[in-house]
Amino acid sequence: MMMSSAKPFLRWAGSKKKQIPRLSLFWSPTYSRYIEPFAGSCSLFFALSPDDAILGDKNAELIEMYSTVRDRSEEIYNRIVAIPRTRDMYYTLRAQSPATLTRVERAVRFIYLNRNCFNGIFRTNTHGAFNVPFASYRVGAFVTHDEFLRAAALLHRAKLCAGDFGSTLRHVRAGDFVYLDPPYAVESRRVFKEYGAHVFGSDDIDRLRRHLCAIHAKGAHFVVSYADCREARALANNWVSYRVRLRRHVAGFARGRRLAYELLITNTAQSCKITGAQ
Ligand SMILES: C[S@@+](CC[C@H](N)C(=O)[O-])C[C@H]1O[C@@H](n2cnc3c(N)ncnc32)[C@H](O)[C@@H]1O
Repeated sequence: MMMSSAKPFLRWAGSKKKQIPRLSLFWSPTYSRYIEPFAGSCSLFFALSPDDAILGDKNAELIEMYSTVRDRSEEIYNRIVAIPRTRDMYYTLRAQSPATLTRVERAVRFIYLNRNCFNGIFRTNTHGAFNVPFASYRVGAFVTHDEFLRAAALLHRAKLCAGDFGSTLRHVRAGDFVYLDPPYAVESRRVFKEYGAHVFGSDDIDRLRRHLCAIHAKGAHFVVSYADCREARALANNWVSYRVRLRRHVAGFARGRRLAYELLITNTAQSCKITGAQ
């Protein structure tokens, strides 16, 4: 059933919100399912509104929050908009231990901290406690009630998987479309450190390479987004790739935001013009 698209309700470091027009060119509703093993804020999923999806992420708190939003959207929305955006409130919620809260309270806390933290970064200390500071600058408005409920309705179409991308990719079958947006594993760049415990290393890139071959062998299609770097070019060997320009918004400090290049690596037969591709 067609359902209109939705907006992501999280601010997420590395979000592909600005790449949606380009990434959408690879998608067709004739695919049987949409699979995204590095889901983050699910920006492409919400934009495409597929009928059937699998969304995975290693961040178990994120995945639990999505399942709670799916089931208790109205209550969660009302609670979030009632909490004032102040530094004191932020640090009070940040100091809470998620284990002592109900599922709904945990979801509210997760979204509130995400909306109000520095640059939408999810980072935890060695004890697993969220430790990102308050964003002392203006952050955008939260989504409207209708937008939040629409996102929650779309989540009903998705199976949610907390775990490594390898376990999400086990579900891939012929006819599926897989979008992969891993964190960058470039140690020399600051973005590498912005996922806290969820860092991605060169072993992960090797695993990713093997998984791309397995997806292809199953008769499914994939698109990978990756920073244009040595690792990405090696990953792109044997596949079609497009080098596209983007304005990086994960870098944090406004002055640090600059144009960067990304590779889109795919086994789809996509031959139409990818705007800005080189
Ligand atoms: C670049 S972000 C994805 C952003 C997403 N495309 C969006 O538009 O919001 C990468 C995501 O991968 C997750 N991640 C990191 N390592 C992972 C792994 N080994 N398996 C699955 N997810 C992982 C992080 O938690 C993060 O949410």
